[in-house]
Amino acid sequence: MQSIKEESAFARDYLAQVAKEAEAKFDEHLPPVTDRPCRLHEAMRYSMFAGGKRLRPALVKATFDMFGGKGDKVWLATSALEMLHTFSLIHDDLPCIDNDDYRRGKLTNHKKFGEATAVMAGDALCVLAFELMGKTGNAKAIEALAHLLSTYGLIGGEMTDIECEGKKVDLDTVDYIHYHKTAALIEAALQVGAMLAGADDKSIEAIRNYGRSIGLAFQIVDDILDIVSTTEELGKDAGSDIEKGKATYPSIVGLENSRAKAKELYDESLKALDSLKCDTSILRSIAAFIITRVN
Ligand code: IPE
Ligand code: IPE
Ligand code: MG
Ligand code: MG
Ligand code: MG
Repeated sequence: MQSIKEESAFARDYLAQVAKEAEAKFDEHLPPVTDRPCRLHEAMRYSMFAGGKRLRPALVKATFDMFGGKGDKVWLATSALEMLHTFSLIHDDLPCIDNDDYRRGKLTNHKKFGEATAVMAGDALCVLAFELMGKTGNAKAIEALAHLLSTYGLIGGEMTDIECEGKKVDLDTVDYIHYHKTAALIEAALQVGAMLAGADDKSIEAIRNYGRSIGLAFQIVDDILDIVSTTEELGKDAGSDIEKGKATYPSIVGLENSRAKAKELYDESLKALDSLKCDTSILRSIAAFIITRVN
């Protein structure tokens, strides 16, 4: 049994390894800046190549491999998931949403290219993601992905996040926001990886439960880091949540209880993997990384 710290270091190496291959595919899948509309293509590439942990591509790849997936179609999905994530970040940072200036250690898309281009760069990444998913030929996976991004998924969470700004909300509502705005896309990455590999329904359910637990933990840690870290460490605006009166875990239960909840979710996520017969070691280490990460 490895310590959480060792597990986390293992995951960090795995993420870096997948990132390298996935990023080469982003370059292949994104339109060149020499094609019109050049500035829009430049803006899409700016945010896609600004860095980032590449967690969602790693989850797609790890799950695909874990369930014995074969072939190159997985790379269509790793690009699609990172494009959808980047779309959500570009729009999340806009002045009408979180109004943030930094992302992934660089100026946010709208600060660099202006609001109109940033809105369209997000839109274009979202559409391109589904075009790539179409090439996998797996209609069920595309439907599942769209649902987890919909008003019943990420978009529903982002909407409620904005509606709750500056209001006193209960923990149930924060759970709703976090499960939707963040856990849904993490769950989607795992589900798509599993479906492309041809996993059975029971395995897909197990992997989705794991995703919901690590997804909620991921956002709780994000809320904690917003308070305890600096903008330099995060590569994005620290203290942004308090400034906007966001509904977060620490604002309701405090920092220590938030940390304890993240650990509880980590334990739950490992339990969800127990029913699987395949080698789950990468996903176990990614769960450890999620609760110990510093940015
Ligand atoms: C940030 O996601 C948005 C949240 C869901 C909290 P990440 O922390 O995965 O951002 P990058 O991709 O590493 O920049
Ligand atoms: C992230 O929520 C959720 C999405 C971008 C969909 P946050 O607003 O907390 O994310 P950061 O802190 O800006 O990355
Ligand atoms: Mg937000
Ligand atoms: Mg934000
Ligand atoms: Mg945040």
